[in-house]
Amino acid sequence: MRAALLARYDTSGRALPWRVRPQERAAGTIADVYAVWLSEIMCQQTTTIHAAPYWHKFLEAFPTVTHMANAPRDDVLTLWAGLGYYARARNLHKCAQIVARDYGGVFPASEAGLLTLPGIGAYSAAAIAAICYNEPTNVVDANVERVIARIFAVETPLPTARKNIRALAATLADPGRPGDYAQALMDHGSQICKPRNPLCTDCVWAAPCKARALGEPQSYPRKTKKPKLKTRYGAAFVLRRADEVLLSRRPDT
Ligand code: ADE
Repeated sequence: MRAALLARYDTSGRALPWRVRPQERAAGTIADVYAVWLSEIMCQQTTTIHAAPYWHKFLEAFPTVTHMANAPRDDVLTLWAGLGYYARARNLHKCAQIVARDYGGVFPASEAGLLTLPGIGAYSAAAIAAICYNEPTNVVDANVERVIARIFAVETPLPTARKNIRALAATLADPGRPGDYAQALMDHGSQICKPRNPLCTDCVWAAPCKARALGEPQSYPRKTKKPKLKTRYGAAFVLRRADEVLLSRRPDT
């Protein structure tokens, strides 16, 4: 299964702006951990298409982590506007300052070290360590969860199944090319093993996929039914003075 997925990645993996493709690596290009960190934080809760122009803008404004650390926080927040989930931008700046101040501008070179930094959780630490340091981590995001739940036809619904899905993902992860494998799996999740219309006829894992054999791959991962949300009503106020709208900045909390 690993060989099939990696072979597909070698020939048809996406050319994302932050990605060092296997051919480029063979020619001597190495992944810049700062650039990869930036991409992984941006791509949480944001599509790669939407994140890409922001990634370019950030690298232009802050070519290194030290540039970002030395910039006023408001510059980082302003450039982030439009990406949403602004705690990510606040943590980005905080993380840059710690890397610049405590690590001499060099990111820790392990999953465990990366995990200690603000804004870097289990997924990002595993992804950055695999992509930049070739550390054999287990990279599991929502896309990977979906793929794994289908391959093994996991009947337990999310979120209860999360721990088991992680363990199953670890049994497949490639220790030889962890960075390529992780990115191959992400491409697979977003392009082939899609949430609603999985392209099973084009899937390199169609044969071993238990969900496909059962006939309804899109019904995995199973999910606990969310209680129906009640409609609640509220009022919003806008404070104006002549042609100005008055704003106040809320605290980070
Ligand atoms: N989504 C988040 N990180 C990604 C990556 N490195 N490749 C593809 N999709 C991603």
